[in-house]
Amino acid sequence: MQNNVRPESMKRINTPELAKAFIDEQVAALKKQIGDGKCLLALSGGVDSSVCAALLIKAIGKNLVCVHVNHGLLRKGEPEQVVRVFRDQLNANLVYVDAVDRFLDKLAGVSDPEQKRKIIGAEFIRVFEEEARKQEGIKFLGQGTIYPDILESVGVKAHHNVGGLPADLQFELVEPVKFLYKDEVRCVGRELGLPAGMVDRQPFPGPGLGVRCTGAITRDRLEAVRESDAILREEFEKNGLAGKVWQYFTTVPDYRSTGIKDNKRTWAWPVIIRAVNSVDATSATIEEIPYSLLKHIVDRILAEVKGVNRVLYDLSPKPVATIEWE
Ligand code: XMP
Repeated sequence: MQNNVRPESMKRINTPELAKAFIDEQVAALKKQIGDGKCLLALSGGVDSSVCAALLIKAIGKNLVCVHVNHGLLRKGEPEQVVRVFRDQLNANLVYVDAVDRFLDKLAGVSDPEQKRKIIGAEFIRVFEEEARKQEGIKFLGQGTIYPDILESVGVKAHHNVGGLPADLQFELVEPVKFLYKDEVRCVGRELGLPAGMVDRQPFPGPGLGVRCTGAITRDRLEAVRESDAILREEFEKNGLAGKVWQYFTTVPDYRSTGIKDNKRTWAWPVIIRAVNSVDATSATIEEIPYSLLKHIVDRILAEVKGVNRVLYDLSPKPVATIEWE
């Protein structure tokens, strides 16, 4: 029976010294648990899996096999960042799987949000399973479970829960950050030398941009989501909002409206901007973006993103709206 209760004696990790002590202790524990065995880890590039991977690399080096699945629903530059940080800087044993076509083909024509989530989750397990079967001698499975995942059985990650690996691929679990809260995971990540852009990332749903390209996903509309999101992130970073606003992103719905460009009528999609503040995602308020910045972002999106002729700012708090559009 796994112990899933954070020890009462555990101090809140909020200084570099405490983070360093935690890292030393965990690295020793991981070395003891895994020995010269091999461990597999699905590395999304999110804070939790990245910190888990960096700890494991410190403990067992190339005996950690990181699998990064690019499902085509990641933000602009994310797969490249995972490869740069883990393969080039941390010298990790990284398997990069380009599964973009597989996912987008499976999702073609599917408009029901929960069905989309199920397909993305199930396909992810299938791709990961295939990679696991290609590896020899794996005994352990690393997972970036954090304490809120244990506490909230119906937490945000549960959205993504579509079962696990088949019975013949059951490995011993390795969960080095399972007693940490999110701020502690970030503190440990900083001490491990992970880049700020990775450690301080805003929350990002497992199904990624898939839930922000509402209805049936098409490649051109997905590109409009990715490009408009990149502009929003770039402007928030430049203007000091990136570390301040809890979650911000764009959504491109599957309907069009009329517009006019170069004296011709257009029939194109709107981009919806969302920027919310929250503590635990159960409720959210709207960030008051300075009007001049909002206008600048609108101008950039209209000039730079293909297939778009309108930009809207969603002012609806949660409740009554949810944070994502589907
Ligand atoms: P909602 O839209 O329910 O979102 O207000 C609350 C938080 O959860 C994130 N979210 C998800 N995270 N898988 C995830 O891992 C999902 O399917 C999913 N749907 C929403 C959302 O981004 C927000 O932070």
